[in-house]
Amino acid sequence: MCGIIGYIGQKNVTEVLLNGLRKLEYRGYDSAGVALLEDNGIEVVKCKGRLAILEEKLTGNCFGGRIGIGHTRWATHGEPNDSNSHPHLSNSEKIAVVHNGIIENYLQIKEFLVSKGYRFYSETDSEVVSNLIEYNYRGDLIAAVTETLNDIEGSYALGVVCTDCPQQFVAARKDSPLIVGLGKGENFIASDIPALLAYTREVYILEDREVVRVSSESVEIFNLLGERVEHEIFHVDWDVAAAEKGGFEHFMIKEISEEPHAMQQTLWPRLQGGEVVLENSEALLAAVADCHRINIVACGTAYHAGVVGKYLIEKLVRVPVEVDVASEFRYRDPLVEPGQLTIIISQSGETLDTLMAMREAKRKGSRTLAVVNVVGSSIAREADDVLYTWAGPEIAVASTKAYNTQLAALYLLTLAFARAKGLLDTASYLAYQEELRLLPDRVAEVLAQKDAIQKFAAAHFNAKSVFFIGRGLDYALALEASLKLKEIAYIHSEAYAGGELKHGTIALIEPGTLVVCPLTQEALFDKMLSNIREVKARGAVVLAITPAKYAAAVAQTADAVLTIPDMDSLFSSAAAVTPLQLFAYYVSLMRGNDVDKPRNLAKSVTVE
Ligand code: M6R
Repeated sequence: MCGIIGYIGQKNVTEVLLNGLRKLEYRGYDSAGVALLEDNGIEVVKCKGRLAILEEKLTGNCFGGRIGIGHTRWATHGEPNDSNSHPHLSNSEKIAVVHNGIIENYLQIKEFLVSKGYRFYSETDSEVVSNLIEYNYRGDLIAAVTETLNDIEGSYALGVVCTDCPQQFVAARKDSPLIVGLGKGENFIASDIPALLAYTREVYILEDREVVRVSSESVEIFNLLGERVEHEIFHVDWDVAAAEKGGFEHFMIKEISEEPHAMQQTLWPRLQGGEVVLENSEALLAAVADCHRINIVACGTAYHAGVVGKYLIEKLVRVPVEVDVASEFRYRDPLVEPGQLTIIISQSGETLDTLMAMREAKRKGSRTLAVVNVVGSSIAREADDVLYTWAGPEIAVASTKAYNTQLAALYLLTLAFARAKGLLDTASYLAYQEELRLLPDRVAEVLAQKDAIQKFAAAHFNAKSVFFIGRGLDYALALEASLKLKEIAYIHSEAYAGGELKHGTIALIEPGTLVVCPLTQEALFDKMLSNIREVKARGAVVLAITPAKYAAAVAQTADAVLTIPDMDSLFSSAAAVTPLQLFAYYVSLMRGNDVDKPRNLAKSVTVE
């Protein structure tokens, strides 16, 4: 949610900032802008819309400075327009700021500054920051920033340049991610690693309430008391190509195609010698053996993975599981206490509501386990235990491979927990592990049906409304499939438990309504088939997804059938979601939407 970048060094500053912003655009694309420190002051170029518009504006301009900051915005305060775009200059144009986060007490600060004669030119909360720094500035930039941060409530990642400081800039973070990239004779700041991969793999991951002074030769980190803080250098060992499109038309289709490999990475190293081996898990498993309740907290797609987790854990571990969206959990004084385990699921590891929900669970004495993709992210660092999903970078706003790997991680946890509780006999334990070992190949088989899915999408891309219905694990799957279609195809869609439809929602089914029905749960097969008949009787067009062995039987009722390989239905969600992700992808494409950057969204939601 908003991407920020900063650079000091000998390279062409505009180029470095634009390269970085290209890699950060997934964080927000309402507007983009840069502030360049030139001999005669700060040059700000910014505009509403995608980065390409800014690039065009910058073409032909020769800026010669050595310091710059840049921003790509996801609007919170004030509509996307030129004046609400970042960077924001202070009134005397001495200071420019880029900001990611929300300044909660900005109205009070604004009022105070107005009383001191300051004028404001935007509707943003961020503009108070540049002016308050200017107000607090008495010749020492980092002191002015620190004083300002002590007055601010809310979340921030900041980059600050000042005309008095041609050899340095200042950055800071609280509850919004920020890293410092270390180069030779140059240094960087960025919201995320991909922005820096072309230049450096050595980074500092800043902690909350840290301020950093960045020059071309040094990086000094301080806390808000002005004390020096030391950090270890974090070496990024990602493959640069992993964050590129690599010949695919969109990141989303590339990431769906990577699902088998990503799931291998999650699963195979942890299936060793007939055991599920989770890194550093001794204390965790001991705690699980005595655990009387598990909470799962997450947002969006990660929440839907959590719903799958609830079904699995309750079935095999026999512990009650509460699954909740993080923004509700954190404010409802949840019934969390010592002896419980709270599992936090997040691709980015930076989703603010999820991070805050985890802190709430910790504060109440629960052990916390993070299922996270991004190494070194806030959630990964603050949780008691971490299980990385190893999906590799996920750039498309619509989460796909991250979801499959979250499921894979939950499968592993379920088996390890059930074993720790003494509830799984060796034969079943080994059989389940074999199922998991085969899962990546099964997803690869599903991917081979791309053409059939594309054809089906071509017949339905103009649908006004689509229903997804399923029972048990297939209901959890329906939730995710419906979200995918909404977010990238902009089609109204509902996910319903198969048995619940007739309690009201079936009134919306009319001749021609598309109803998508995953039908993978053996024990619920006949019940679900009856639900399909109910919607068919009202004229619905039904697409079913079912294991190959049921295809013929289902085809007698459904209008179209996609198959997944025959497998244990406990793990079928990870294979059955792939055709539904592809369906959303093709429908979005056929409607002419921007698949990777759907409207109003951003990849990493670091505001609440
Ligand atoms: O990074 P996280 O997994 O914490 O993100 C949570 C949601 O914002 C995310 O899954 C969102 O729902 C996706 N855009 C869905 O495709």
